[in-house]
Amino acid sequence: MAETSVLSGKRILLVIAGGIAAYKCLELIRRLKERGASVRAVLTKAGAEFVTPLSVQALTEDTVYQDLWSLTDESEMGHIQLSRDADLLVVAPATANLLARMAAGMADDLAATVLLATDKPVLVAPAMNVRMWEHPATQANMALLEKRGVRRVGPNKGEMACGEYGPGRMAEPMEILEAIAGYFTERDAPKPLKGKRALVTSGPTYEPIDPVRYIANRSSGKQGHAIAEALARLGAEVTLVTGPTHLPDPPGCAVRPIETAREMLAACEAALPVDIAVCAAAVADWRVAGESDRKLKKDGGGPPALSLAENPDILATLSNAGAKRPSLVVGFAAETGSVVEYATAKRARKGCDWIVANDVSLGTTTFGGADNTVHLIRNGGVENWPTMGKDAVAARLADTIAQHFQNKTP
Ligand code: PMT
Repeated sequence: MAETSVLSGKRILLVIAGGIAAYKCLELIRRLKERGASVRAVLTKAGAEFVTPLSVQALTEDTVYQDLWSLTDESEMGHIQLSRDADLLVVAPATANLLARMAAGMADDLAATVLLATDKPVLVAPAMNVRMWEHPATQANMALLEKRGVRRVGPNKGEMACGEYGPGRMAEPMEILEAIAGYFTERDAPKPLKGKRALVTSGPTYEPIDPVRYIANRSSGKQGHAIAEALARLGAEVTLVTGPTHLPDPPGCAVRPIETAREMLAACEAALPVDIAVCAAAVADWRVAGESDRKLKKDGGGPPALSLAENPDILATLSNAGAKRPSLVVGFAAETGSVVEYATAKRARKGCDWIVANDVSLGTTTFGGADNTVHLIRNGGVENWPTMGKDAVAARLADTIAQHFQNKTP
């Protein structure tokens, strides 16, 4: 749970759109003000059908901004200033309509204009009918907004005002308050890796057999993406080179999607110079030699013989990059037995500084699962970390990297 005292003195611009959940905003305003935040509100035309400007004004103790064309509002505060004169913009409820207008970059009312003109972070609390939330259009709009850095809290699952059941209920006021506090806690946290550039590889590679078939592996990208996010959270400027995954882009990272090992190598080399490289991708060691540019046909002559060619080794290439070598190169080792022993040998063979060993034997869920049990192998010896969520492994690895740069540990 985020510490809500961080809200003291923070300026929130609350955009209230037109949904039945708008009434919950009144409670949100009260709770924010109790914790010392100031709240200024923009109320859309539809929002004013659900809560009155008077109640919002009474609780915010401020003017309620409603009309892009209101001369009074503009004389008191222009919409540009309104959009910038806050630490965080919160949209609650964020309706399907407003999310769509935000994604399209429209400026057709005060709320949309303020959201387009702002240079401040934005948190949305979606609220709508379950079918509207699940509609591909809304999902695409939300994904686009999140890719652009918009944060989201909810929606929750539950019974809707319309009687249907599923995700679409706006997060409760205290959950929104927690998300707001979480943003400030993260923003104000120390940034020991500020000024450092980091490169992270993640996910599988796809090695084509022909235009429709490929060789791949079971990496989900969860571990690598979590590491990229954790390094960015500590202030590093992160480039994430990733094979195909179903994960959203981690916030604050420049993402370079690739498919093959050769593309991954090219994207990594293009990201140099960096201070830190973490290779968590499950790169295919081999590709199909002479991949076909036409779909291989079943011609009655039996299955085609596939011969393999060796892929470039990205970790070894980065570790031996001469003047361009990152000052700290961290590899991963996926082993199915004698994990620490094989990983130690791999570290020496590839020339990286640290190696994070994990067991990928049958029966483990290291590939694809939520948790990981790792051993960090450095000059100083081996640290056996307890089983943790991949996010926690990533956070601990990022902290260890930050300590390395602070004290130059092994
Ligand atoms: O993606 P998840 O589902 O979250 O799973 C996480 C993970 C199991 C993929 C991850 O924790 C992990 O172990 N990543 C490395 C997987 C791997 O390919 O291990 P390896 O032992 O084969 O390779 C050793 C190191 O060399 C790795 O850093 C790998 O990225 C790198 N490598 C390997 C081959 C190659 N051609 N180029 C490389 O850079």
